[in-house]
Amino acid sequence: MAADTKITIAIDGYSSCGKSTLAKAIAKQLHYAYIDTGAMYRAVTLYAMKNGYIKDGAVNSTLLIDDLGKIYIRFRYNVETGTSETFLDGENVEQEIRKIDVSENVSRVSEIKEVRKKLVTLQQLMGREKGIVMDGRDIGTVVFPDAELKIFMTADVDIRMQRRYDELMAKGHKVSMAQVKENLIHRDFVDTHRKEDPLIKANDAVVLDNSGITREEQLEFVLSLVIERKNKKCSSETSLK
Ligand code: DC
Repeated sequence: MAADTKITIAIDGYSSCGKSTLAKAIAKQLHYAYIDTGAMYRAVTLYAMKNGYIKDGAVNSTLLIDDLGKIYIRFRYNVETGTSETFLDGENVEQEIRKIDVSENVSRVSEIKEVRKKLVTLQQLMGREKGIVMDGRDIGTVVFPDAELKIFMTADVDIRMQRRYDELMAKGHKVSMAQVKENLIHRDFVDTHRKEDPLIKANDAVVLDNSGITREEQLEFVLSLVIERKNKKCSSETSLK
């Protein structure tokens, strides 16, 4: 039955497009696991910052790569808030990894080949049973190139900037609008131009520009694609029997 067929949903796109908001809503609706891969890159960045491996924006990649085997990242579901939280070496870092100083350093850390290799392997393990929604930059191209549904999200940069600014202010972070805009543009540039696993649209991804649509509309659109992909997977499995 299509309803029981589990698929993999990969969501990629530019910074602050609302990928995690959409991914969480889909996961909740389908009772799927949700993995925020950006949080994993942020956690490694926080580790590097705490250990003094980042100075004036430059990462000492040799020291960070040496430590990769002992960086332990996991997600734990918080029943009270109804959200999944990020833990770094046993410590809840969910708030800390969202701060602007981590955002300003994360692009450099996510360019490091060995960092990506470690995190991609972990992500593939997390999704091996399917029934997962994962968001990031390389999910449909590198982590799960065979995902049944791939979404590539985009939105107008000013809309993204406003959303990100509102989100940071609501959490009590001190930041200016100009700082948010500069950070967004910089991260998009590094993400799309880096050598290792750059952000590109997978050939078979569906583009979703959510500049002018509501969260409900985008969720409805993606859920209709989920039904279509589940039916397709179900019928191809049946014809193989
Ligand atoms: O989704 P986010 O903005 O929290 O991600 C933080 C950074 O991590 C982003 O600027 C690029 C990097 N990233 C990546 O390189 N690959 C991923 N799969 C996810 C995030």
